[in-house]
Amino acid sequence: MSDVEALKKEAGIAACRFVKTGMKVGLGTGSTVKHTVVELGRRMAEEGLEIVGVPTSLATEQLANKVGIPLVELSSIDGLDIVIDGADEYDPNFQLIKGGGAALLREKVVAQESAAMVVVADDRKRVSHLGAFPLPIEVTPFEHQATIRALGRLLDCRVNCRMAGDNPVVTDNGNMIADAHMGPTITNPVELESLILHVAGVVQVGLFNGMCDAVVLAGANGVETIINPHGRLN
Ligand code: 5RP
Repeated sequence: MSDVEALKKEAGIAACRFVKTGMKVGLGTGSTVKHTVVELGRRMAEEGLEIVGVPTSLATEQLANKVGIPLVELSSIDGLDIVIDGADEYDPNFQLIKGGGAALLREKVVAQESAAMVVVADDRKRVSHLGAFPLPIEVTPFEHQATIRALGRLLDCRVNCRMAGDNPVVTDNGNMIADAHMGPTITNPVELESLILHVAGVVQVGLFNGMCDAVVLAGANGVETIINPHGRLN
């Protein structure tokens, strides 16, 4: 296992301490939180933990089924106790860029239904300003290139359609992903989110503002849990 993979596993497993029997848990998407999902399945099988989950992608749904976490739909429950998810970047104000795995829409829907959000990450994800990681924006298939052009004009930077070989990446929702190469320049993610959401053709943007309550961060010196002083776990 590579060093980075080992850190992801440490963070993913450490975050399980936030999950208690009886909880309804949002299950994020990505290579870090997959370790959380596997560990929760193990605790259910071996330690009597009882939870239900809501997955944020088809990939996570498959994994949860495989490890034996019962799944429910958000419409059948009255909100989630917690969501645990990965991030591509987080800044000192606990604002996030997400969507590197193209699951940002479902991730945001699940996060907004959760009483708390815990992010799992390795320490490469900590930044002073968001934006070095290209900002993912989910756009409708209809005239997606025109929407991407409009985003380029608005943001004054290169915006690409994310590709898988010769074809655009298609999300679980049948949409496309535009990646905006803004550089580490995002000083007001709240304003930027609202600006981007005003563009016709945009479905959602991977800025998660005011949602993250804690980050479980793995680095060379071990795992640290950083609680957002303005968050819901404080
Ligand atoms: C998927 C996401 C992921 O949570 C994010 O890309 C982090 O993934 P990883 O843990 O694999 O680095 O937002 O849309």
